[in-house]
Amino acid sequence: MTALAAVVLCAGKGTRMKSEKAKVLHPILGRPICAYPLKRALELGATSVVPVVGHQAAEVEKSIRAHFPEAPLRFALQKEQRGTADAVKAAEDALKGHDGRVLILYGDVPLLRKETLQALLAAHDAAGGALALVSTTLEDPTGYGRVIREAGKVARIVEHKDCTPEQRAVKECNAGIYSVDAAFLWKALAEIKPVNAQGEYYLTDLVEMAAKHGPVGAVDADATETAGVNDKVELAARARVLQQRINEAHMRAGVSILDPATAYIEEGITIGTDTEIGPSVTLAAGTVVGKNVIIGQGSVLTASHVADGTHIKPYSVLEEARVGDRCIIGPFSRLRPGTDLAEDVHLGNFVETKKARIGKGSKANHLTYLGDANIGAGCNIGAGTITCNYDGVNKHLTELGDGVFIGSDSQLVAPVKVGDGGYVGAGTTVTKNVPPGSLAVSRAPQVVKEGWVAGKKARQAKVKAGG
Ligand code: UD1
Ligand code: MG
Repeated sequence: MTALAAVVLCAGKGTRMKSEKAKVLHPILGRPICAYPLKRALELGATSVVPVVGHQAAEVEKSIRAHFPEAPLRFALQKEQRGTADAVKAAEDALKGHDGRVLILYGDVPLLRKETLQALLAAHDAAGGALALVSTTLEDPTGYGRVIREAGKVARIVEHKDCTPEQRAVKECNAGIYSVDAAFLWKALAEIKPVNAQGEYYLTDLVEMAAKHGPVGAVDADATETAGVNDKVELAARARVLQQRINEAHMRAGVSILDPATAYIEEGITIGTDTEIGPSVTLAAGTVVGKNVIIGQGSVLTASHVADGTHIKPYSVLEEARVGDRCIIGPFSRLRPGTDLAEDVHLGNFVETKKARIGKGSKANHLTYLGDANIGAGCNIGAGTITCNYDGVNKHLTELGDGVFIGSDSQLVAPVKVGDGGYVGAGTTVTKNVPPGSLAVSRAPQVVKEGWVAGKKARQAKVKAGG
């Protein structure tokens, strides 16, 4: 197999986005537009991937590095936008020594599928020439470079502005995506001159140069795949297509999605069979969901793991949380980073957890904050329980053994421990460790004054009468 490198053009400004942010950084389903072509290049096994940056180069580089911390990226800078050939030329130094093929992709074309790129490489192999390209047939080809064929073979690309009236009638368009032999590429780029209607260095000139030496391969791709993003209407339209593609793949694999139009599932999320995703659910950042899970309406899961048979009720928010088998969470639960639940845990409405390990079968069903806590199995945490984990300077740990009962409206002032089977009476402020099997109560003894209300009324009446 020939070694593969990739150049992804990310230098453009994207004036029509009407934004302070570089075009390629605008997000589609949680990732910048350019992350998609970069990911495809990596999936194809490209050993070097060169994003060519220009406009807001530092921000674009930073964002790309954050999304691909371990990828073999080498950034190249195109200082001035002098055309697509000039942009690719900027990558030459970064690819010194690479003698295989170079895949050229646009950073603003997010929907191109891996299969289409594989077909492009296969077409390059089959034709046996120096270059292969992706074409797309458009009813309205205005603005695109036209694929000009002679005796059925690709002869050259002519840009819209340089076309004769006959050439303008051609509907086969150049998508701008190529596979090129490295040796030919760098040699040919050096010969390209900006002699055309736009005075730019046209990458498309490569096609005619390659066609003179051998056959140019071509694959026809659907226009939805090759479409770029130029403004925010197109951004939303591309996001819609991606969303549909992802959701359909999950449904075909046995996931039920109640309203595919409002389920936002990022690329690369794993979901088990017979899991049901409710309306307006978001699954982001590598979340993994098991089998037979129900995720209720409006829930947002980010970088979280949910095991089999769990029910996440509506409007719950999970971030870097791990949830075991058969748990019941929500409605309106908030599981923050470091939450780690064993099996059969129940967390109900308005329960917030952070760095909380909770053992098998424990329950906190209402209005509770559990932060920096190690909680054993079979505990019952009453409504309104709060771990006071922060003293204004440091965070402290609350530790509950197995089978602990915490009465409603209690505060656990950390660091503090309640031993196995310990019992905390409702309304207690726990400031000292509670040994196993012991009761802690800190509330004031109740006082009952019989007849007090009638007496109070009589006193008030007297005051009113000026007595
Ligand atoms: C290009 C092709 C055209 C094709 C069309 C498909 C050329 C000469 N023409 O035209 O045949 O039909 O794409 O969309 O290649 N870029 C840079 N630096 C530059 C210029 C461009 O990074 O100096 C980037 C842009 O940000 C964009 C991509 O390259 O991502 C394409 O550039 P654009 O100016 O849109 O090319 P088109 O005129 O559309
Ligand atoms: Mg364009």
